[in-house]
Parts: sequence; structure tokens; C-alpha cells
Amino acid sequence: MGRFLVTGGAGYVGSHTVLALLDRGEEVVVLDDLSKGHREALPARARLVAGRCDDRAKLAEAFALGPFDAVLHFAALSLVGESMREPLRYMAENLATTMAVADAAVKSGCRKFVMSSTAALFGFPERIPIDEQQRLGPVSPYGESKLMCERALDWAERIHGLRFASLRYFNAAGADPLGRAGEDHDPETHLVPLAIDAALGLRGPLTVFGTDYPTPDGTGIRDYVHVTDLAEAHLRVLPLLEHRSVRYNLGNGTGYSVREVIETVGRVAGRPVPHVLGPRREGDPAVLVASSEKLRVETAWTPRFPGLEDIVRTAWAWRAAHPRGYGGRAAAA
Ligand code: UFG
Repeated sequence: MGRFLVTGGAGYVGSHTVLALLDRGEEVVVLDDLSKGHREALPARARLVAGRCDDRAKLAEAFALGPFDAVLHFAALSLVGESMREPLRYMAENLATTMAVADAAVKSGCRKFVMSSTAALFGFPERIPIDEQQRLGPVSPYGESKLMCERALDWAERIHGLRFASLRYFNAAGADPLGRAGEDHDPETHLVPLAIDAALGLRGPLTVFGTDYPTPDGTGIRDYVHVTDLAEAHLRVLPLLEHRSVRYNLGNGTGYSVREVIETVGRVAGRPVPHVLGPRREGDPAVLVASSEKLRVETAWTPRFPGLEDIVRTAWAWRAAHPRGYGGRAAAA
């Protein structure tokens, strides 16, 4: 058994990773300021330190609950569109928080660090699927901020011996298959939860962002990976950090178009997804599909929920049971 510090552990991917750690019998301390995360997403067994990652006193409080075998750092600003409006805030905040947590880890003697990164590192990719050899060229301040963090961690490795894993997520979707956690963003900007909410009548019709992409049906193609499979990947990389730092692209390796997602949600819901056709969203590449071969070969990671329908089914089940998200249970709706 080990002990882990999870920043942003009350957020979407963070909370599912907390569940995966606890299911394995690990001890978990969460550092989260609850600005985006939800206290209700955390099981009682996870110890919460409520505060920001760049607050030295809160970091000290969290690290006093160690020593930690590794730090898993999820806390970050993560909306591409918002980053196009607030570039300096995105770069300043994501770099400052990551550096503060990495610095505290090094000073505490913990030399293993897992960071959430993103497909946005690749901007408009040259080839599909996207492997780790592809040119890095973010086209948003969000992607740039994560690239800056990776580069800074390189220096921490060289100088302090901090070993890190950078996991470049593609499109996280779905919910804990046991219904213990799900996706609850405010504002919600992601396709799967928006399509589900439209089908449930919890909000108006979904707008399809662009129907003139050079794809078979004209809509954007993405690689949707189940959040529980993403969480599992964090556990798989930990043993590698005994020896070296790693960077992995993390997706299913299969692309689905916006229209295919709408059809799948409609099938799972048993009713059509109300939608309207709209123009492209600025900065959206036509196709983003990962090659996760490197991760599969080096860690034996295999997704349990590779199919879009299975992913949507878990997301649907959670949302139908929590139409107001964590703020209210079904009975309150
Ligand atoms: N889409 C719509 N309508 C919507 C929302 C999304 O048509 O209302 C489309 C998008 O254009 C895209 C697909 O659905 O083709 C998926 O969009 P999401 O907003 O769900 O996800 P993104 O692919 O834009 O974003 C993801 C991650 C980011 C990451 C980015 C990399 O959520 O963190 O990939 O480009 F930075």
C-alpha cells in the first residue's frame, strides 16, 4: 500500500483516479480548491485539503500528510476557448501551480510526478493517428501552457531527479461504471454531456460546430476515451517512474464524428438528440485521434471501455441519476 497526493482530485478525471487508487487499497490525500471540483465527488476515505495549489501554506498542510509515493497533478485551467480569451491567465496559472506542486514534491523528497497533459499540444496535427513523435505545435494558450509545464519538468528531472509522466489526454468521456462519480462542469462545453443533456431536455438543442470538415460526414472527429480507462493509465505509469520519465498520448485509437456521437447518444437514450447545425468553432482541428501504442506496449494498458456506446452508456446512467450534477440528486430534480 502506498500514499498519494492528488491535486484537482475533486475534478472530473481527478475524482475517477482517486476512486481507482482507493479501489487498489491506496491512501489518498486530495488538494483541491473546489472552484471546479465537487466535494461530493470524493469518497469519505479520501482526505481533502481544501485550497489552491499555489498557496504555500496549503501545500505545506497537504505535504505534512505525506510522505507520498507520488504526486498526481490534475489541477489546472483546461478550456481551450477560455484560454483564447485569457491567454496570460492560462499560462501564468497553469505554470505557477504546476511548478509550486513540483517544487513542494521535490522538497518533501517525493520524486515521482504524474501530470495531466493534452492533445492540444499537437495543434493541427500532420498525421493521424497522433503518436509521440509528432511535432508539438499548440495553437491555443491552454496547449502552450501544458507544453511549458512539460519543459519545466524536464529541467526538474535533470537538476533534481524528479521523474514525471506526462499523459496527453484526448477526449475524456463517460462516468464511473459503478455510478460513484461522473462529469459535472460549469459551464459544460464538452460534446458527450451536452448531447446527453439535450436528449434529457435539461438544456436546449446541441449545436453541431461545423459540417464542412474534410471528414466522411463533414463533422469533427475525436478520440473518446473512457475516464475510468484514463484513470487506470495513471496507475500503470507509476512503476515506470522508478527508472525514467515518460510521455504518452492517451486515447482509444478510434475516431468518432460529432454525428456518430449524436446517433450513439440517441440510441442509448432511446430518443433523438435535438440538435442544430452551426459554423465551425474557432481553433477546432478536423480530426484528433491518438496512437496509444507506446502506452499499451510499455505498460500493458488496455481500455476496458473502448467502444463509444459503452462510454456513452456510463455517462448517460450517471447523468440520468444526477440531472443537476453533484449539486442535487435525482430526487431533487
Ligand atoms: N462539439 C460540437 N458542439 C458542441 C461541443 C463540441 O459540435 O457544443 C464538437 C467539437 O467541435 C469537436 C467535438 O465536438 O469536434 C468534441 O468537442 P469537445 O469540446 O467535447 O472536446 P475538444 O475536442 O474540443 O477538447 C478536447 C479536450 C481539451 C483538449 C482538446 C484538444 O476537452 O481539453 O480536446 O484539442 F485541449
